[in-house]
Amino acid sequence: MSISKKEYKRVTVKSLIEMKKQGEKISMLTAYDYSMAKIVDDAKVDVILVGDSASNVMAGHETTLPITLDQMIYHASSVIRAVNRALVVVDLPFGSYQSDPKEALRSAIRIMKESGAHAIKVEGGVEIKESVKRILNAGIPVMGHLGLTPQAIYKFGTYTVRAKEKHEAEKLLADAEILEKLGCFGIVLEKIPALLTKEVSEKIAIPTIGIGGGKYADGQVLVIHDLLGMTHEFNPRFLRRYMNLYEDMGNAISRYVNDVKSQDFPSDDEQY
Ligand code: KIV
Repeated sequence: MSISKKEYKRVTVKSLIEMKKQGEKISMLTAYDYSMAKIVDDAKVDVILVGDSASNVMAGHETTLPITLDQMIYHASSVIRAVNRALVVVDLPFGSYQSDPKEALRSAIRIMKESGAHAIKVEGGVEIKESVKRILNAGIPVMGHLGLTPQAIYKFGTYTVRAKEKHEAEKLLADAEILEKLGCFGIVLEKIPALLTKEVSEKIAIPTIGIGGGKYADGQVLVIHDLLGMTHEFNPRFLRRYMNLYEDMGNAISRYVNDVKSQDFPSDDEQY
């Protein structure tokens, strides 16, 4: 399939809405550090998400709940130093925006000021409406996140597909419309039926970005460690692995260990 793409010097929230209008799919990937963000940005990914999945893949926690605002700012500022083109969106971590709108705004301002990020992302719909409104009123672009919302994992207890029941699908649709009306520039739809993604994407003018949301989303996002095969114990149906870095990196490191043990490394040419 031919891909007609407008070249964007810098991707902005406006460019994303324009891409949806033009029918150009949006690519989004996570990154959490300078070196990886440089590769992702040079590969022309449109949006880099400094996701709170850093809690899992960078820190080894079981859920996204433990990561702190300070830790998110550290990851985000490392990413920002690498990026020339992509829009950088940063997750507000669990506990930094749910209690009241003033705290939500303070957390969003800290992310923007201390990391230099371009936008923030929050999980939830009508429940966080006042917080979203307050952040947007301060001029900070907000991305929503509906469907499987990992910060609420203990409320649901499982990572199964969300919104399969009619009442859940209706709530998700209503939440998407609320987020759009408030002024969000996009919504991540995680692990919901493809036909619901289609319905949401046709109903709202802002882009939907799917992760396990199927082919009708206006864009797709994956966690970079999953795409590169650095993780190997996580195998949901929606994940396409483009490499098997867990094995390739392990083999390279084993060769290094062998070379050190056998005194093959360093050679005469690799010393001063
Ligand atoms: O934290 C994250 O990586 C995310 C994506 C799964 C969308 O929120």
